Amino acid sequence: MDAAPLIIVSNRGPLQFDRDEAGERTLRRGGGGLVTALSGLVSHREALWIASAMTEEDVAVSEEAEGGAVELTIDEIDYRVCLVGSDAQAYDRFYNVIANPILWFIQHYLWDLSNAPDIRREELDAWDYGYQTVNRDIAEAVVAQIDGRPDPVVMLHDYHLYTAPRMIRERRPDAFLHHFVHIPWSQPDSWRVLPTRIREAIFDGLLANDIIGFHTLAYCINFLRCCEELLEAEVDYARGEVHHAGARTLARAYPLGIDAQRLERAASSPEVAEAEREVLERRRKHLILRVDRADLSKNVLRGFTAFDVFLAQHPEFREEVTFVAHLQPSRQDVPEYAEYLERIEALVAVVNHRHGTTDWMPIDLRIYENFPEAVARYKHYDLLMVNSIFDGMNLVAKEAPAVNTRDGVLMLSENTGSHEELWDYVISVNPFDIQEQADAIYRALTLPAEQKRAWSEGLREIIFSRTPGDWVDDQIEDIAALRSSAR
Ligand code: F6P
Repeated sequence: MDAAPLIIVSNRGPLQFDRDEAGERTLRRGGGGLVTALSGLVSHREALWIASAMTEEDVAVSEEAEGGAVELTIDEIDYRVCLVGSDAQAYDRFYNVIANPILWFIQHYLWDLSNAPDIRREELDAWDYGYQTVNRDIAEAVVAQIDGRPDPVVMLHDYHLYTAPRMIRERRPDAFLHHFVHIPWSQPDSWRVLPTRIREAIFDGLLANDIIGFHTLAYCINFLRCCEELLEAEVDYARGEVHHAGARTLARAYPLGIDAQRLERAASSPEVAEAEREVLERRRKHLILRVDRADLSKNVLRGFTAFDVFLAQHPEFREEVTFVAHLQPSRQDVPEYAEYLERIEALVAVVNHRHGTTDWMPIDLRIYENFPEAVARYKHYDLLMVNSIFDGMNLVAKEAPAVNTRDGVLMLSENTGSHEELWDYVISVNPFDIQEQADAIYRALTLPAEQKRAWSEGLREIIFSRTPGDWVDDQIEDIAALRSSAR
């Protein structure tokens, strides 16, 4: 019998198929930190990647492949991907009602509890006939791919797939199941908005894994506390273990690094050089930058308000500084996200009207994704703003300093996973404290050159010391150790 390749499973895959206006099939790379991390994994090991078919064209590709894998190379990486189609209504309930917003909002503490969420028939049905349906479709695809192969290793990812591990475990008790959660794990009370049966299905599903990985130790501890308080499972904090349903699950921290060398190669590409010309032509004395998905957890509104306060308190900086914000539209079928983007645009109009002049627009808002343009600005910012409300890791905080050429300063929210590693060389901010963020802008733009140099060297040393390959290797090593101790 053939040994199964490593199976990685996530909702968003590395490739997204669409049709352009001329009706031609197009292909682009999936966005977000998860795809970046797992691309590092597949460039490192032979793997089959199972993902949801998210667009109509993805569904067409999956039907053409008849449940098999498609093989494609993008950005020098070879992918073998198996796209899993689900019923369109089930997928909509799964993605737009349960995963985003309900689970995402719980795990980033975004609910305004006196107003929302309301759990009604619609949400319960979305759980039963959406989240569970898509998890079952994915679990079945996994079981089909590992059929007849001994000792398979399956790595599942993120909050979309919390119940799939139990479904796989029931069919393949011998499989090694590993789950990495790319977003924060919030404290026990935040989970109490969910009806007990849903909460228990989530924890029971996750505890069918052998290992659950998080970006930080703080998230591991929150997870263990949830198992103890909400499931009354037996927890060993010192060993990071949970005992449930006759099995043991380990909770471990594996901080994700970036492929800084690949980013350096991208930073010296002709596409970035072309984008850089415009950046340099238009730049004022100071450039403040942020690059994010347009997500509520990123705290874009407070960031702009802090800039507004800074300009009001330091009029000497008027016409000398521009704040460029690259925001990639995200999850626009979820009303909270669509409304958030509208509020961002309205606030930018107010700030620009309040402080702008005939030839100076303080905030330059770019609502699209353009990698060369973003990297060109990574190279030239004076201040990078990462002020997330809560954020699993935040890879921009590692990517941008890796290629910055101006000893730019990083303003970093203390509630990001990357703060656990980078805090010594950043201006830390409380994401809710607007005055502190306004002061941080002033401090960053007036910081002595030697201090900026020392910080940027400190950041680069940490950032270049760990790659996505190390992140994968640490997890594979733990999997191997656990497997051999079980024999
Ligand atoms: O890393 C967190 C994450 O939610 C991933 O799971 C996801 O792929 C990415 O951000 C982008 O979100 P989405 O897939 O909803 O566009």
